Amino acid sequence: MILKYIALTLLIVSVNIVKASDKLVLCYYGTWATYRPSLGKFDVEHIDPNLCTHLVYSFVGINTQGTVISLDPYLDLPDNWGRDNFAKFNALKIGRPNLKTLLAVGGWNEGSAKYSRMAASSILRRNFINSAIKMMKDYDFDGLNLDWEYPNRRDTVNGPADIQNFVQLLKELRTEFDKYGFELSSAVAAVEAVAIQAYDIPGISKYLDHIGLMTYDLYGPWDAVTGHNSPLHKGEGDGNIPREQLYTVDVALEYWIKSGCPPEKIILGLPLYGHTFTLTNAAINGVRAPSSGAGIAGPYTSTNGIIGYNEFCIKLQRETWNVRYDSLAKVPYAVQNRNWISFDNASSLTAKVEYGLSKNIRGIMVWSIETDDFRNVCGYGKYPLLNAIHKALGNIITTTPSTTTTTTPSTTTTTTTTTRPGSNTTKEPIVSPSGNVCKSEGLTADPKDCTSFYICTVDPSGKFLPHKFKCPSNLYWDQKNLYCNYRDLVECNI
Ligand SMILES: *[C@@H]1O[C@H](CO)[C@@H](O)[C@H](O)[C@H]1NC(C)=O
Repeated sequence: MILKYIALTLLIVSVNIVKASDKLVLCYYGTWATYRPSLGKFDVEHIDPNLCTHLVYSFVGINTQGTVISLDPYLDLPDNWGRDNFAKFNALKIGRPNLKTLLAVGGWNEGSAKYSRMAASSILRRNFINSAIKMMKDYDFDGLNLDWEYPNRRDTVNGPADIQNFVQLLKELRTEFDKYGFELSSAVAAVEAVAIQAYDIPGISKYLDHIGLMTYDLYGPWDAVTGHNSPLHKGEGDGNIPREQLYTVDVALEYWIKSGCPPEKIILGLPLYGHTFTLTNAAINGVRAPSSGAGIAGPYTSTNGIIGYNEFCIKLQRETWNVRYDSLAKVPYAVQNRNWISFDNASSLTAKVEYGLSKNIRGIMVWSIETDDFRNVCGYGKYPLLNAIHKALGNIITTTPSTTTTTTPSTTTTTTTTTRPGSNTTKEPIVSPSGNVCKSEGLTADPKDCTSFYICTVDPSGKFLPHKFKCPSNLYWDQKNLYCNYRDLVECNI
């Protein structure tokens, strides 16, 4: 590690959004993307704060006492030479009085059990609320995005009682947050089949400022046939199945509105990633074709079954794919031999935004900004998807040519490593206190659990830091290939 002084040239280009609409654009930022290799590596400096009204730091978790905790203290906090990302993230608000930052707590990997216990106990709810407020005040967040996935689902402890406990939790949060002017939002399961078991829709709508419908992962490689990640309408291959029985954006949105959620509180979730499938037979390759499971992994997110738009747009340019548009569902999909990929592009996202506007919704949210083409690798400009969304919302984005050049002496740290080893798109990292699992920098198997792995980083004092990640949807860690893989392709001796 070498410390040296260099002259840093700062190019300050100010970009202004001239807003024609007052719709919200909530941007989820998956902070573990910092551990991705090469062009997939995404840090706070890659965020374009002009493209979002709300930036959402994902995720923090809770402990068994309900207390909100950092899941990656080295990344989030300044302590022990930490990278201080909470502060760097919130510094994006300097000079931008209209930009809000939210702290997201929960997410898929946190599971439901801890939240079920917390919401059931007045003492644990108080711990949760007080510790959330303290974290938001200490680090200058403007609100909380509560992502309990999901009440009365998965590993819930209290079952159907979760439904009213969630309402009670939101009621108490609202009372306390109003003392400080904090915003309260939540991401919710969108489709009726899940939502009907998880939420008292009028009850939660009363206390939340905005409600983000996760209208993605509607179909995926966990199904026996191919399907779209986020179909707007009933599509090709849906035959005479009644539309209400399908998992589509339009049916989910209609369900929330008719169940008593005011449209002016709804923000529609849009995916900036796709799902990959492996066709059972290359010749049967339409929508609802037999699938034998997850397909190719992207080079940065390294997870079979998922691919970021930034990973796929370049494949589309370099390889031969048969790209089709489901003109009913209004989403593209791509076929190459036995590979089948459902994804979203500027056209499909525009269609969804326009549909949402026709229902007078409050705005949209994206999962997540680090898989848009934030580096302009594919040549459509930086953040082509987020820009298309703004265009569809009626926001005019102008780049003002006020360019200032200053030269500042600066201290930088250069390390001898060239690229950082890869990471995986599990939904969030879990930092484990585990002792010496890390023997070198990079990716290593979890000696206690085949479905987890560690990314080992080195702190400035030379100490190895283990960051624990969980493979998505029951995949196993494959130490030979350094990604999460099918169970039957990995040897597990635990
Ligand atoms: C989205 O994909 C479809 C199918 O390939 C294509 O027709 C359409 O032009 C694409 N949209 C954009 C903006 O590239």
